[in-house]
Amino acid sequence: MFPVLETPRLMLREIVPADAHSLFAFRSDVEEQKHNDPPHKAVSESYELIARLAAEYRETGAVRWGLTIKGYDDVVGLLGFNFWAREHHRAGIGYDLSRHLWGQGLMFEAMTAALEHGFTTMGLNRVEAHTNSDNLASRRMLQRLGFWQEGTFHDHFFEDGAYHDVALYVMLRRDRPEPRVP
Ligand SMILES: CC(C)(COP(=O)(O)OP(=O)(O)OC[C@H]1O[C@@H](n2cnc3c(N)ncnc32)[C@H](O)[C@@H]1OP(=O)(O)O)[C@@H](O)C(=O)NCCC(=O)NCCS
Repeated sequence: MFPVLETPRLMLREIVPADAHSLFAFRSDVEEQKHNDPPHKAVSESYELIARLAAEYRETGAVRWGLTIKGYDDVVGLLGFNFWAREHHRAGIGYDLSRHLWGQGLMFEAMTAALEHGFTTMGLNRVEAHTNSDNLASRRMLQRLGFWQEGTFHDHFFEDGAYHDVALYVMLRRDRPEPRVP
């Protein structure tokens, strides 16, 4: 059963082929994708991404959720685990949100639920996030969630005629507050 997560404002659910046009709406936004994967040029790329995420979930169990605002079915963001090294209890996490919804704490809320799922249901010990060093909104959100910067991959990728650094952020199980006994 695909795990559906609920937060005060959001539902995180499986992303399916019927979501391809919603996904394309934000994945084709050049400004939004500046620090993320290359923008989609055709909706066929969004169908392919949905198929790839479903295959990865089937093969590895790594969950990627479509983010929806409660009361609406349109997928307006994508987040989840992009790899899962089960034997080491380690996974990577990625996220992106439609630009018109930035700055309202929505991805912070979604990530809080995804991390809870990771550290409990998936039994993770370590979650990694790679983010462009100049992606200040992403870094700020990770820090506020409790991630710390473990290092920097200097000149990690070449784009627009220049080399760019990538920051490695980490959250360990032992960094998380103990669950409160009611
Ligand atoms: C990164 C992203 C998911 C954040 O989503 P969001 O819902 O706007 O995030 P939140 O509102 O929860 O938190 C963003 C934080 O960054 C801050 N912020 C936003 N723009 C900023 C900027 N230019 N400089 C510094 N801080 C910034 C916000 O004020 C907020 O911090 P606060 O809670 O202390 O006020 C969103 O910006 C996005 O989709 N970006 C494009 C895709 C992307 O870069 N994905 C990450 C790839 S690794």
